Amino acid sequence: MDASWWENRYQTGDMPWDQGAAHPGLLAWLSAHAPVSGLRVLVPGCGLGHDARAWAAAGAHVTALDLAPTALATAQRLPDSDCINWLQGSIFQPPSHLHGTVDLVFEHTCFCAIDPAHRADYVRGVRACLAPGGRLLAIFYLNPGRDQGPPFGVSRDELNRLFRGKFTQIEVTAPARTFPGREDREELRLYAVT
Ligand SMILES: C[S@@+](CC[C@H](N)C(=O)[O-])C[C@H]1O[C@@H](n2cnc3c(N)ncnc32)[C@H](O)[C@@H]1O
Repeated sequence: MDASWWENRYQTGDMPWDQGAAHPGLLAWLSAHAPVSGLRVLVPGCGLGHDARAWAAAGAHVTALDLAPTALATAQRLPDSDCINWLQGSIFQPPSHLHGTVDLVFEHTCFCAIDPAHRADYVRGVRACLAPGGRLLAIFYLNPGRDQGPPFGVSRDELNRLFRGKFTQIEVTAPARTFPGREDREELRLYAVT
């Protein structure tokens, strides 16, 4: 599942994860937590950018990062994409100009897409991007109900282990809403950098 693997999925239109809309739980969270105007938000593994556009519509300054150039090119052609900074790259080695510049990272279906062997790299990459006081808002796909990934499931214990020491957990809940079929399979977590 390197960049070319993901690129091929977008080139062939084989992207069953794409729901054509922002995560309903994100939209609920934004309604409850507005305004987010001026917040510098990073969306790693943005795909076609539906979540990124939801943040931008709420007033955030958004950087949307993905490995796959075709995902980014397609995303940029969708309406309301002009105000977003689309960036090709990996969250494992985020571009240096992002380091320490992000107020909030929004996670949705990037963590479950990566090889579990790289989860510590993901946590390090997210941490590197965040400014002092920065936060990670994540909707983790705990149990995609598949034998083989991606998407790869994750236990709550593993999440606790991965983020302990680097982040302070502020909130853990179920997303207020989700896509059909994902009910009781996700967890929304809000972390602050320690
Ligand atoms: C399952 S898709 C989800 C896309 C989008 N979040 C959505 O929900 O539609 C996972 C995305 O993460 C991207 N990706 C995988 N590994 C990545 C990495 N290390 N850094 C940045 N993006 C990555 C893939 O190219 C793909 O677009």
